[in-house]
Order: sequence, then C-alpha cells, then structure tokens
Amino acid sequence: MRKKITVVGAGNVGATVAQRLFERGYADIVLVDIVEGLPQGKALDMLESGPVLGTDSTITGTNSYADTANSDVAVITAGIARKPGMSRDDLLFTNMDIVGGVAEQIAKYSPHCILIVVSNPLDAMAQQALDVTKFPRERVIGMAGILDTARFRTFLATEVNASVEDVQAYVLGGHGDTMVPLVQSTNVAGIPISNLLSKEVLDPIVQRARDGGAEIVGLLKTGSAFYAPSAAVAQMVDAIILDKKRILPCAAYLKGEYGIDGLYIGVPVKLGANGIEEVIEVELSEEERANLDKSAAAVTELLEAMNNRTDK
Ligand code: NAI
Ligand code: 2OP
Repeated sequence: MRKKITVVGAGNVGATVAQRLFERGYADIVLVDIVEGLPQGKALDMLESGPVLGTDSTITGTNSYADTANSDVAVITAGIARKPGMSRDDLLFTNMDIVGGVAEQIAKYSPHCILIVVSNPLDAMAQQALDVTKFPRERVIGMAGILDTARFRTFLATEVNASVEDVQAYVLGGHGDTMVPLVQSTNVAGIPISNLLSKEVLDPIVQRARDGGAEIVGLLKTGSAFYAPSAAVAQMVDAIILDKKRILPCAAYLKGEYGIDGLYIGVPVKLGANGIEEVIEVELSEEERANLDKSAAAVTELLEAMNNRTDK
C-alpha cells in the first residue's frame, strides 16, 4: 500500500509541493484548503497528468480533514504570505491562528504523522504546531534551512562557475534576517570558499542569501517564493518516506543542543522514517555561535509576542 501525505494550503507553496510529491509516485496525496473548489480543482488537474507522467498515485482535493485520516506525513502551508514591505514577522498572529487550527485537525485525524511546518514566521509556527499537537519534537519539523542554504549555494555556484552539487554549505538559525550562513565551513568540492573568493565578493553573496526571500517578494509583488520552497519540502518528505537518513538543515525544537533550550531554530538534523532521528552538532566559530544566539533571541521575541498576545 502506498504512503499517504496531506498538504494543507492549496496556494502557491502547497499546490507546488503536492505536484512534486504526486509526480514522485510513492504516495497518495490529499490537498486541503478552506476555499471551496480550489483544492479539488488543482488536485483533479494534477490527477489528469498521471497518464502522461506514468504515475498511478492518487491526488484528492478536499475541504474536510476526515479525508486526511491516517496520513504518514502532513505538510502545513496554510496561511497568508508576505507582500512587498512586509516582513515574515508581520504574519505572526494571523498565521498563529491558522496554523493552530490546522495542526489541531491534523493531530485529530493523523495522530501518528510526521508534521512539516512551512507557514511563516517559520520557527514560531513550528512551535505553535508542537504546542497544539503535543507530538514529540521528532515529529514536528520546520522547513527553512534547506531553502536558505539552496539560495546561498545557487549564488556561490554561479560566482565560482561550478556545479551547484559541488557547493557544500549550511545556513542555520531562524528563518529571518538573523539567519546564520556558516561561511567558514562552506566549500566547493572540499576547497574552502575563502580560498576561492575574496571577502569583498563573498560578503554581498552572504547578504543576498539572507535577503533571498525579500528579493523574490520584490519581484513578484503579489506573494512570495514557492518553487524553491516546494523543492525543499519535497527533499524533506523524500528523506522521511524513503528513510534516507539525510542530514539536512531544518528547524528543530532544541533541548540544550547548541546551548539553546526550548526553542525552534535551524540546525542540521538527521531525517528518516522517524522524523528527526538526531540533532547534529557541527563545530561553530565564536562569531557563528554568537550569531546563532542572536538569531535565537529574535525567535524568542516572537514567542514572547505570541504568549503575551492580548486579543486571544
Ligand atoms: P498562498 O497565499 O499562495 O497560499 C496559502 C493558502 O492557504 C491559500 O490557498 C489559503 O486559502 C490557504 N489557507 C488559509 N487559511 C487556511 C486554513 N485555515 N485552512 C486551510 N487552508 C488555509 O501562500 P503561499 O505562497 O503558498 O505561502 C504559504 C505560507 O508559507 C506563507 O505563510 C508563507 O510565508 C510561507 N512560506 C514559508 C517558506 C519557508 O521557507 N518556511 C517559504 C515560502 C513560503
Ligand atoms: C522565503 O524565504 C517567504 O519565507 C519565504 O521565500
């Protein structure tokens, strides 16, 4: 029997995630949205691509969580996205309510699933999903680090004229302005990036990676990125469904790792059939550690805003 994956939110990210996963053919997909007809229409359109693509998986669109029952993996992309001039943090209270409601339904119908959170502000929304579902931390994971790292790797590969596959890097920390590209360990086929690029060239690339989300918002004007984000989600789902034990940067709830306790933040984790199977502690320079702490403080501020919210 095929695995079952639910994607909540049939907008730009959710529909593209559903399409990528449907085309993999290893799972049946359920696409959920509050808008009537939207998930049904998109799912039927994708289903009808099956004969051309040669996939026998099914994809169903629905407005009812009963149809999501017993999913192995659920992906939450429901919520509002940024418009020009907005930061990810401006989405906080609206998406807190949306993610909370969605997470409750997912936990009710699929109490054993692994939950991947995408909605922004990412680290705070992962926390919200963990609090609402009361799942163990291994089964509530945020997607951001793969995307932020992919942006960094893209710009570096272009600059050094090498394959993106040979550029190894990590971007850790919260999914916001304080994210932490680990420049010291970044390399191209083992050659340290500092041997290949001067600081004058490297610094603007680091900054462009940090601003990667805003760059796309500025160009699109009506929403935010979805092709690279959906590819990142699909890589996480691959690791889980195929039990690949990939080591990927994801938002994980830390319990003392990296000296951080009780907070979601982007770190390398081993992803397999059980979700997060290990938090990997890589060596950080003093500056990187200080930047990670700064990033954790920014996430803490959002959590405090959620906890002190007065209009609940
Ligand atoms: P979108 O606006 O295209 O789609 C959002 C969808 O969620 C809409 O179809 C809407 O009807 C649906 N929705 C709203 N409330 C719902 C509810 N209660 N139940 C079910 N569905 C509901 O937005 P897009 O571009 O797909 O982005 C989705 C979220 O993902 C945003 O918060 C965005 O900031 C975030 N995002 C996060 C990334 C990351 O790296 N973590 C990357 C890209 C986007
Ligand atoms: C991004 O980084 C919007 O968080 C999203 O593109």
